[in-house]
Amino acid sequence: NDHKIACLSIKDKPKFKWRGMLLDCSRHFMDINFIKRYIDLLAFHKMNVLHWHLTDDQAWRIEIKQYPKLTSMGSFRKQKDGSLYGGFYSQEQITDIIYYASQRGVCVIPEIELPGHCIAALAAYPEYSCSGGPFEVETDWGVFKEIYCAGNDQTFTFLENILDEVISLFPSEYIHIGGDEVPKYRWERCEKCISRMVDQELEDVHELQSYFIQRIETYLNEKGKKIIGWDEILEGGLAQDATVQSWRSFEGAAQAAKMGHDAIVSPTSHAYFDYNLNAIDLKKVYSFDPIPEGLTEKESLHIIGGECNMWTEHAPQDIVESKIFPRMLAMAEVLWSPKVLRDFEGFQNRKSLHDQRLIAWGVDSGLESDPLNATWDKGSDVFGVEVQVEAALDRIEGEVIFTPLSSRLTPSHHELGSRIFVKGEGVLEAVLTRDGRPLRDAVLLPVAGHIGVHSDASIGHSLSPYYPGGGERGLADGRLGSIDFRDGCWQATQSENMSITLTLPQTIQLDSLSMQCYRYQDAWIFLPQTLAFGWSVDGVKWEESRIDLHTYSGSHVLSPTDAQDIVRIACAVDASARFIRMEAVNPGSCPDWHDAASSPSWMFLDELVVHGQ
Ligand code: ACM
Ligand code: ZN
Repeated sequence: NDHKIACLSIKDKPKFKWRGMLLDCSRHFMDINFIKRYIDLLAFHKMNVLHWHLTDDQAWRIEIKQYPKLTSMGSFRKQKDGSLYGGFYSQEQITDIIYYASQRGVCVIPEIELPGHCIAALAAYPEYSCSGGPFEVETDWGVFKEIYCAGNDQTFTFLENILDEVISLFPSEYIHIGGDEVPKYRWERCEKCISRMVDQELEDVHELQSYFIQRIETYLNEKGKKIIGWDEILEGGLAQDATVQSWRSFEGAAQAAKMGHDAIVSPTSHAYFDYNLNAIDLKKVYSFDPIPEGLTEKESLHIIGGECNMWTEHAPQDIVESKIFPRMLAMAEVLWSPKVLRDFEGFQNRKSLHDQRLIAWGVDSGLESDPLNATWDKGSDVFGVEVQVEAALDRIEGEVIFTPLSSRLTPSHHELGSRIFVKGEGVLEAVLTRDGRPLRDAVLLPVAGHIGVHSDASIGHSLSPYYPGGGERGLADGRLGSIDFRDGCWQATQSENMSITLTLPQTIQLDSLSMQCYRYQDAWIFLPQTLAFGWSVDGVKWEESRIDLHTYSGSHVLSPTDAQDIVRIACAVDASARFIRMEAVNPGSCPDWHDAASSPSWMFLDELVVHGQ
């Protein structure tokens, strides 16, 4: 076959010089061929950085010749069923990967986590912790209080020797040193760390973290390397020449740029490809602009690019591709082309060509978005709520069939097609069908139709950028949270009380008030210490019922439990009311027994359900 194309010249250049993808090979081990294919896929889409997350609590994956136990002990973990899971990369394999990537225009940046996320290393060398151990390589996911001791000079020698070998392997300009999620619990109680703070005249443990990072930075700078750290390295004072990778929001990048430091932007709002599509879908990624608001033109030059983060706690190798595609296509365009060319419709057309290519390569691409999108509305009857469900993004035509899965849920107006009006409470199943046959898996929508949905609402806390849960009205919108705490329904605060006041459309005879709370201590989510419900006829004279959760279900709200559940706190009321309020007192810091002791806990609330007539 004789294929010909016309001569042409292309003038093109990337908007951002840093177009990265993180691959977490610690939580799950990925084999060499898989990593090479990942590099091929990056390179094809003009992504040019592989951020290789090689060490964490759950495994140490890079061979270090001076410390063989890092891999002989630290690269395997004993799973709950007793089996060993793990693997590591030899220095020879790493050199091979770096060469393979360089041939394709991809730079490999190693991440060696410190001073936290290091239990796998401490399991092998417990002498570099504050408490001395012993430790086991972690099998749970989370943030843990066992970290490197900042008061022990031997710890620094250990890390410097490791970094010497890392430097000799990786030709990259940068070494990523982590720096995120470091509970300071051990440091606050360690004699060596306390003396270090006294000797160095450090005000607090945040300055001690800053001391730690700066000491490592100085060492690496002397060897001709620059450091990158997650945005927590801003706390207690930023190291002299560090690049900040902003993940908790855009704020770290904005702060760094204003201080004249470079920043890479990979926020949980747009760039976490381990998150489900209901949190970050294709359109959301496409709407990403790495430049934080409020920067001058000069400051914005410090935003060197963005990165997609592919954490793998819940993603073994065989599902990684379905997580990163198609979302990486959107990120690749965002990081390459100027903002004025952004056009989602046009992108979707271009995407269909990409899709064909991905199919030809056997890439297991995922969906663009949650297959069904639900919206909540007030409806015409004040004692209920209207739910509308649409097939999202992929524009599939069909009819939605609703089935209430609870007898406490009373539907009406079913003739509305993709809409349903419900009173009462329970789970509504929605299935998109054509000619009576399901086109998609059913989605389950927990709903509560109640008069609070129709009220004016005002909240007394600030909305978390991570868990705004429906905004100002989110605590009374008829939409209940599910067991997935990132489903967009949950509203959360960290170390802040939450409150809401409702003005009902009419005075009613109250039967009960209740609140849904989420509990999952492994993810730092605790029940509130106290919930207070108030009601009033005139908004001036209030009655109140205060529920002390210290003794909920016979155990203290701060006692350890493995539960991951939704707890409904209800209070029966027999009174007339037009005004309703709720206040939840936050649970404080994670308690001493907790892996993240002393870190601020989260409180997750969902819906203030008002029952009455
Ligand atoms: C991070 O997601 N802990 C950087
Ligand atoms: Zn210490």
